[in-house]
Order: sequence, then structure tokens, then C-alpha cells
Amino acid sequence: MAMIEVRNITKAFGNLVVLKNFSVDFDQSGVTVILGPSGTGKSTLLRCINGLETIDSGDILVDGLSVREKKNLKDIRIKCGMVFQQTILFPHLDVLENLVISPIKILGRPRNEAIEQAKELLNKVGLIDKLHSKHNELSGGEQQRIAIARAMMMNPKALLLDEITSALDPEMSTEVLKIIEKLAQDGVVMLIVTHEIPFARRIASRVLFLEYGSVVSDTSNEEFFTTVKEDNERIARFIQNIHH
Ligand SMILES: Nc1ncnc2c1ncn2[C@@H]1O[C@H](COP(=O)(O)OP(=O)(O)OP(=O)(O)O)[C@@H](O)[C@H]1O
Ligand SMILES: [Mg+2]
Repeated sequence: MAMIEVRNITKAFGNLVVLKNFSVDFDQSGVTVILGPSGTGKSTLLRCINGLETIDSGDILVDGLSVREKKNLKDIRIKCGMVFQQTILFPHLDVLENLVISPIKILGRPRNEAIEQAKELLNKVGLIDKLHSKHNELSGGEQQRIAIARAMMMNPKALLLDEITSALDPEMSTEVLKIIEKLAQDGVVMLIVTHEIPFARRIASRVLFLEYGSVVSDTSNEEFFTTVKEDNERIARFIQNIHH
């Protein structure tokens, strides 16, 4: 069984049909990079998977649980951690408390165990010295690295990352992308929406290209950046434009 099964979904906002009879599966392993022009439904897809948007028809199963059933949403959000373009940490809590609050309150984990894991993750993202900083004392890149650590605190089966570096300057963005590469090497399953093509090429096992709410191409990384890119003029142009 696939980890995430998107089965023939349709999602519209008013008259605007964003995803139409859209199907795709994501396995229990690997990094999928989702590319495509602005407005094609990349964020909408991730938000539907996580139950942040309702779907009009079809179904999405996360580890066998349907997003159509309200009672599944809590579990689905635990299974799929999501990080967005910008993250607001709870402003009144320091970094450590931001990390441990959900595992303790939602998963019922013992506090000392959560703190241990938080410290491990902060080491991993290179921010152990920020343990007691608050949101407004962190740079944008640091906030995003904390957001990744916070998502990992729930031991998710998959991470959904939506343009997590697009609000950052290049240097900060590199720091964040390095963490994602490290997690990918550890075998964390990821769905990544990004416009960072060189990064996509380094990290992806699979590349999905969406346009007008449909899958235009779904191949291995290797195939996408060689054959598909050569054969599909539209994709070649997209990659070219992003580079400039
Ligand atoms: N809550 C909403 N209400 C109305 N329209 C929406 C809403 N969210 C998204 N849309 C529209 O749906 C379409 C798809 O949006 P989406 O955010 O999924 O695109 P995207 O592929 O992530 O684009 P980008 O690369 O710019 O982030 C867009 O035309 C957008 O304007
Ligand atoms: Mg988007």
C-alpha cells in the first residue's frame, strides 16, 4: 500500500477548478519534488493531503486513513508534518517549549523524553544554542530550521514542505536546504514543493511536474533532468525561466 494515495480528487475554489480528477501515489520511502508554474495547485495538493483544505470529490488516504473523515484529521496531521514558506513559532514560548508542546499535549509523551528528542533535533539543525530564544530573536532561516525540527518532533511518516526557503536570502536558504538533505539521507519521506532547481536535482528521487492541476510528468530524477527536459519544451522553458 502507498503511504499517501490521492485518488481521483477534484478541488475547486468557487468556479476555479484547481485539481481535476487528480491521482497520484506516494510510497513509504524517497523524496518527491513537485515542480510547476505558479498557480497550478502545488500548495493546494499538499494542503488537501494534510486535510487543511477539503476536497470536492475523490479521496485521499494517508496510511489508509481517509481525509474525508473528520475523526482522522488529527492522526493524518501527526503522520504528515507540514512546513510552510514562513513559520510563526508560538511567540510567548522559547524554542524548546515550541518543540515539546505538541508531543506532550497531543501524543502524551513524557516531558523529559520530549526534551531529549528536542535537544537531539536542535543539534541536528545546528541550533542547540538557541534553546531558550524566542521567535522574534531568530533569523528567518533559523525559524525555518526550528520549524523543521518541530515537525520532526511528532515522528511523522512524511514531511510536506511547501517552498520553505522562498522567503529567505540565498545564504540562509542554503542552511535550511542542507538540513533537508541530511533528513533525506536519514530516509525521511518527503514531498517537497520548491523552485530551487539545483536543490531539487540533488535531492529528489522522483520529480512530479504539474500544470493546470494535472500531472504533466512523473519520473525519476535522472529521467526528468535528462529525457523529459529534452523532450518537453514546456518543461525545458520552465526550468530555463527559473534559472534567470
Ligand atoms: N483559499 C483559496 N481561495 C481561492 N482561491 C485559491 C485559494 N487557495 C488557492 N487558490 C487558487 O488556486 C490556484 C492554485 O493555488 P496554489 O496555491 O495551489 O498554487 P501553487 O501551485 O502552489 O502556486 P505557487 O507556485 O505560486 O505557490 C491559484 O489560482 C490560487 O489563486
Ligand atoms: Mg504554492
